[in-house]
Amino acid sequence: MRYAEEITSKAQQNVEAQAAAQKVGATLTTWKKNAAESNLIGDSEPQGTLAMEDLEKLVQEWDNNAWAATPTYLALLSQLFAQTTGAVVECGSGVSTLVLHKLNLPAQRRVLSLEHHRKWYERLQATLPQDTTVELCHTPLRSYDGFDWYAMDSVDLPADIGLIICDGPPGTTNGGRVGALYALREGIRPGTLIMLDDANRDRELAALLDWNETFDLHVELFTEGKGIALVQIV
Ligand SMILES: C[S@@+](CC[C@H](N)C(=O)[O-])C[C@H]1O[C@@H](n2cnc3c(N)ncnc32)[C@H](O)[C@@H]1O
Repeated sequence: MRYAEEITSKAQQNVEAQAAAQKVGATLTTWKKNAAESNLIGDSEPQGTLAMEDLEKLVQEWDNNAWAATPTYLALLSQLFAQTTGAVVECGSGVSTLVLHKLNLPAQRRVLSLEHHRKWYERLQATLPQDTTVELCHTPLRSYDGFDWYAMDSVDLPADIGLIICDGPPGTTNGGRVGALYALREGIRPGTLIMLDDANRDRELAALLDWNETFDLHVELFTEGKGIALVQIV
């Protein structure tokens, strides 16, 4: 089954999440719950050996289910990695970082992962191979104008970001994940794709509305599970 079809079938099961999505649907550039009809998910085959069974095994071994990405989310991440070029910036590390490590074995793109929590940073550092191409950055959260976000002063931000994987900081953070597009603004360009997890939450829906006011965007919201929004800079 193509990943898009799997996501679609799950989306159709979650009526409650779809209702949450409708709160913002009317004001977004596009709103689709059907991933198979997505304009943002391409047809290119995901790279490497990351079959769904491999992703399920990685998630199981990481053993942090309440917080970690699901195999379906990681499958979509693989798909987006395959169809984009340029640097990848991940906000909120974990099993998704291990997947990015594997995906980047042949591609050798710049892959940066931001992590504010020392414990999770150390766990990942101990798990990633020493020669990984993933640049794992331990950087605390700090206050910006109206939201909290990773301190960026010591981060060497890529100039050409093709893909942002936004699964952090945690949902209780002031402003949720609204900081992503502002803090990474200097690296984004037309075509940059943002994958926003937990998109059914009020803070993340508010972030989508905020971004939609400030940037020229295409937005697709998939309401299955905790919700995933795909956002493309026009
Ligand atoms: C949703 S998690 C990110 C998950 C990650 N993308 C993955 O696939 O595993 C967001 C942040 O929560 C923190 N976190 C992860 N697991 C946690 C746990 N079990 N308890 C508290 N905080 C956690 C980490 O700082 C992480 O960056």
